[in-house]
Amino acid sequence: MKSFNGRVAAITGAASGMGRALALALAREGCHLALADKNSQGLEQTLALIKTSTLAPVTITTHVLDVSDRQAMQDWAARCVADHGQVNLIFNNAGVALSSTVEGVDYADLEWIVGINFWGVVHGTKAFLPHLKASGDGHVINTSSVFGLFAQPGMSGYNATKFAVRGFTEALRQELDLQRCGVSATCVHPGGIRTDICRSSRIDANMTGFLIHSEQQARADFEKLFITDADQAAKVILQGVRNNKRRVLIGRDAYFLDLLARCLPAAYQALVVFASKRMAPKQRTPVFETNDEPRL
Ligand SMILES: NC(=O)c1ccc[n+]([C@@H]2O[C@H](COP(=O)([O-])OP(=O)(O)OC[C@H]3O[C@@H](n4cnc5c(N)ncnc54)[C@H](O)[C@@H]3O)[C@@H](O)[C@H]2O)c1
Repeated sequence: MKSFNGRVAAITGAASGMGRALALALAREGCHLALADKNSQGLEQTLALIKTSTLAPVTITTHVLDVSDRQAMQDWAARCVADHGQVNLIFNNAGVALSSTVEGVDYADLEWIVGINFWGVVHGTKAFLPHLKASGDGHVINTSSVFGLFAQPGMSGYNATKFAVRGFTEALRQELDLQRCGVSATCVHPGGIRTDICRSSRIDANMTGFLIHSEQQARADFEKLFITDADQAAKVILQGVRNNKRRVLIGRDAYFLDLLARCLPAAYQALVVFASKRMAPKQRTPVFETNDEPRL
């Protein structure tokens, strides 16, 4: 797809961050939009921003839903076609973050993140795929993360969902290539992007004293790692779709961590443990009191 002008794009998580930035960038290119999020106020703000910053006459619909609700996603897909006549692009972008140890994680928190980050992507893909095929020129864009390529202690839930999105999307792309059906797929792996994700993330109390000093400090520290802004990220994603890329990395941090995991697919973990020991609070659980050097 070389141009988005006159196309119809559906975007989840459009009330904030990269979803909002994608909506703004696509509207500027004359793309009609179906925007969804669980946050109705944020969706209204995105709509107002598009109206004040876009000259192209585009049709925009908004829908409040939870991406982990399969029926709601199917209903929304049908509604998009009824409202816009067709859908060409689905950006399965909505997502949340969770920090916890594996041992201490609540099943409820794991189910929450899997429901949104993994099932949300599956529901969006399956609900929209028949409509994308019917349009004759479609694209599925699923947002994973650099943490879909590289694992981190305290991020097992997030890692699991983002690795799953990557596997799901890579398999989907291969199927679509074999089918030559006019639909393609791209998996997006952003590094740290300045958005609201940190503020809405869940940080379990078991992280305090293990890998972080305090929840507040951890949120502030995480945000320092967000080196790319959301508008830049949206630009990179849309260029990736135009070039029909299988994989889109965003930010030099994503390129660096991807390279590390590729060159040292097992040993990078020991390096992460070594770096985590240096950065972790002084009062650690016994797990840090052995193996002072990384074993590569
Ligand atoms: N910001 C980063 O550094 C970063 C890095 C890698 C990957 N990502 C991924 O990028 C995507 C976009 O995140 P962002 O950084 O723009 O964060 P964000 O918090 O700014 O935006 C996420 C949006 O998803 C919505 N959302 C959350 N749960 C939902 C649900 N159940 N149903 C519908 N909408 C829901 C939120 O309301 C919010 O508007 C996510 O999948 C995230 O995991 C972000």
